[in-house]
Amino acid sequence: MSINLSTFIATECASDDRHPVALYQLIHQVAMCCRDIAAAVDRSALVGTTGSAGVDNVQGEEQKKLDIIANDLMMEGTQTHTALAAVASEEMARISRTSQERTAGQYLLLFDPLDGSSNVDINAPVGTIFSILKCPSARAPATEADFLQPGSEQVCAGYAIYGPATMLVLTTGDGTHGFTLERDSGEFVLTHPRMSIPARTREFAINTANTRHWESPVKRYVQECMAGTNGPRQQDFNMRWVAAMVADVHRILLRGGVFLYPQDAREVSRFGKLRLLYEANPMSMLVEQAGGMSSTGQQRVLEIQPHALHQRTPVMLGSREEVERLENYHHHVRRPLPDLVDALRNLWTEY
Ligand code: F6P
Ligand code: MN
Repeated sequence: MSINLSTFIATECASDDRHPVALYQLIHQVAMCCRDIAAAVDRSALVGTTGSAGVDNVQGEEQKKLDIIANDLMMEGTQTHTALAAVASEEMARISRTSQERTAGQYLLLFDPLDGSSNVDINAPVGTIFSILKCPSARAPATEADFLQPGSEQVCAGYAIYGPATMLVLTTGDGTHGFTLERDSGEFVLTHPRMSIPARTREFAINTANTRHWESPVKRYVQECMAGTNGPRQQDFNMRWVAAMVADVHRILLRGGVFLYPQDAREVSRFGKLRLLYEANPMSMLVEQAGGMSSTGQQRVLEIQPHALHQRTPVMLGSREEVERLENYHHHVRRPLPDLVDALRNLWTEY
């Protein structure tokens, strides 16, 4: 008998006293928003919602029409949820407080409404990434500072991928589980319980067009992979890059591999491309819960103390042995004056 998301959630509620029913109701509501976004992506070419919206978001990146539509769907679908104190999105400069009265035990929701959105115009996979934190009870109403918690504090992390099938992948700290949307019934059905990333891999994912900007440990790692049987790894590797983090991480959850978006030396503000709070943190929790690792090269992503809502971070995640190797290479070449570098980075990412 198939298990759908509601049944799965009810069972989790009954067996896991760490999280109250309200959290699971919130997760269910987010899943319903993802279902609506899937439908919007599905019909975009037919209703003229592909292409650019003609404006930039808070990060200075071009917004697609569907970035805005996906953000609106998430906002409309969650704004009145009683368990939610406030929301933060890649597409919004500031947090948005919900209309609910502030009550104890509320949550904060962060999301990237349409990850990899440049893929929309070529009918390639895109997704939604989300993270849920507890709202620190002392403050009312919720403030931006409440969101600045390390990823290890997340009570739920997940993503939806809009590919040939729509899938929802989530964790509440007890394994990573994948659900596939059955379009006729509109139900998410548990198809990938307890996903597990193999410790070893021969597949890596990185945008090699940026090679000249990488730090030496990353250059060394990728060069060794590319040297294949002729190099120190003594085996051939394969390379994949979908240009949507959801799709690259999804592949890694299913068959292993390593994904890198490392620090970039082009400018101080490009210390990594991916956003910590609603891209790197949720993906890191999902990967760790599936037995993988996630690191900046210098430290576990989930242990970074955030200092800004939209801050960026380098990310290297996936199969354990590869991420350990990357960390070893980084530890051999410690950055000069790391405190000064971090201080500069903090200043710049305050934007
Ligand atoms: O959200 C940022 C993002 O679109 C990720 O989904 C993806 O992994 C990456 O940027 C793609 O970057 P690039 O443009 O360098 O290929
Ligand atoms: Mn993204």
